[in-house]
Amino acid sequence: MSWEHEMAAVADSWELLAAAAANHAHACRVIALATTSDVGPKVRSLVLRQCEPDLRSLICYTDIRSDKVSQIRQWPSAELLAYEPSERLQVRARGRLRVVSRGALWRQAWVQLSERQRGEYCRTITATDVDLGADSVARARRNFAVLQLQVKHLDVLQIGRAGHQRVQARWSRGAWLAKWALP
Ligand SMILES: Cc1cc2nc3c(=O)[nH]c(=O)nc-3n(C[C@H](O)[C@H](O)[C@H](O)COP(=O)(O)O)c2cc1C
Repeated sequence: MSWEHEMAAVADSWELLAAAAANHAHACRVIALATTSDVGPKVRSLVLRQCEPDLRSLICYTDIRSDKVSQIRQWPSAELLAYEPSERLQVRARGRLRVVSRGALWRQAWVQLSERQRGEYCRTITATDVDLGADSVARARRNFAVLQLQVKHLDVLQIGRAGHQRVQARWSRGAWLAKWALP
């Protein structure tokens, strides 16, 4: 992989993220999400569930009871990292992260979950073997949340044998502005 133009790096980044969200076995299906907390930075693995390049939207699912939810509500700035080892391509996507727990986007995600996935959202520490009766389904619905990152900055690095290429891009007035960067 080698880019002749900065915008090719932007296009490749979105292509990679869209492929990862669409394919369970993709090398970038599990991303790292970094946020801020009262004790400093926090980073954790999450499954990338949806990618809409035109909306600059990246979506993961989480449990509303997790620490990250209150942290994100207080400090919504976040960075997502994906690394594709065969292309040696690192994509960092930064922007504002939203916790969505109602509305069309949330409903659309909820209906696509399998029963097993729904069960994850009504677990408690003491009761791990959850039977999905009406009460537990209602509890799982309350605990299920969508995390939506609206990307404003991209930092793309390709580790090439003949040299590295790095591009930084920012969304400005309806378009990506991209420039070569070093190191
Ligand atoms: C491979 C892998 C995939 C994971 N996927 C998710 C996920 O999609 N959503 C999620 O909330 N946590 C996921 N986790 C768990 C998180 O990494 C993290 O431990 C948990 O969400 C609690 O994080 P917090 O304390 O920052 O809220 C995953 C962990 C691993 C190892």
